[in-house]
Amino acid sequence: MNHFLSIAELSPQQVGHLLQRAFFFKQSLQFPSYPQHTLANLFYENSTRTRISFELAAKHLAMQVVNLDLSTSSETKGEVIEDTVQTLAAMGVTLFVIRHAQDGLPQLVAQGLNEAVHVINAGDGQHAHPSQALLDLMTIVEKKPNLATLKIAIVGDIRHSRVANSLQFLFKLMHVGELVLVSPKQWQPETVHFGHVTAELSEGLQGADVIIGLRVQKERLAESEQFDLAHYRGRYALTQDAVRMAKPDAIIMHPGPINRGIEIDSELADGPQSVILTQARNGVFMRMAILESLITTS
Ligand code: NCD
Repeated sequence: MNHFLSIAELSPQQVGHLLQRAFFFKQSLQFPSYPQHTLANLFYENSTRTRISFELAAKHLAMQVVNLDLSTSSETKGEVIEDTVQTLAAMGVTLFVIRHAQDGLPQLVAQGLNEAVHVINAGDGQHAHPSQALLDLMTIVEKKPNLATLKIAIVGDIRHSRVANSLQFLFKLMHVGELVLVSPKQWQPETVHFGHVTAELSEGLQGADVIIGLRVQKERLAESEQFDLAHYRGRYALTQDAVRMAKPDAIIMHPGPINRGIEIDSELADGPQSVILTQARNGVFMRMAILESLITTS
């Protein structure tokens, strides 16, 4: 694996290896050192948790980290991202973590690079967010290892969610028993990679083992006049009441950041079934596994 761009490029064996390494790091807290590597965080979209997660992952592996302040970087002076990457690569950066609003941009950047330089997709537009999907899988496997027997529900704006996209590919690849994508009509996906779509929350939650809430992306809502928040809450919010339809030991997940009282209630987000903070913790170990596999295999 020379770049980490999307789940579609991974084999089940590679996913298995990444899980195994991530669990090893989590359980042993023994981290190898790769001080000859430097990681650059290139976040052209706002992010706190994903950027910091990659930064901590790199630092645990004894790498150097540079964070570009992209509001003051050369892109505002008209430099294209490819030139930024080439310049930093010439200075010795070997790993580029890229988040950008444009679908497919990390892939485009990766094409022009030599094989000693690696690109990691940290979320591109509405396309993919593969490291999030893998840390979600790690969290699921940790709690419920038998994927083939699981019913998983993803609830919310499936259509615009790069997380839901990557999760569909990953759950398909790893043979998850059943995936239900719950979404109001206007947010249902045009293309479904795996699972079936419903507008009924009960259809998704009934007997579910894993419930994944998605953020209501308020930054998008300005454009959509038809959206009625109260209506959404009434039909799709993850509340204590709604979750009673699921299995009693169902786990509640969310990639964050959460909108408390919109797509998920605080009593649920902070309750005993929630694994939202476990996801954040696992993210660091999974990203360590991803970085390591890029620099140790070709
Ligand atoms: C997600 C993202 O940016 O795609 N968040 C994340 O990476 N933690 C989901 C979101 O923004 O709602």
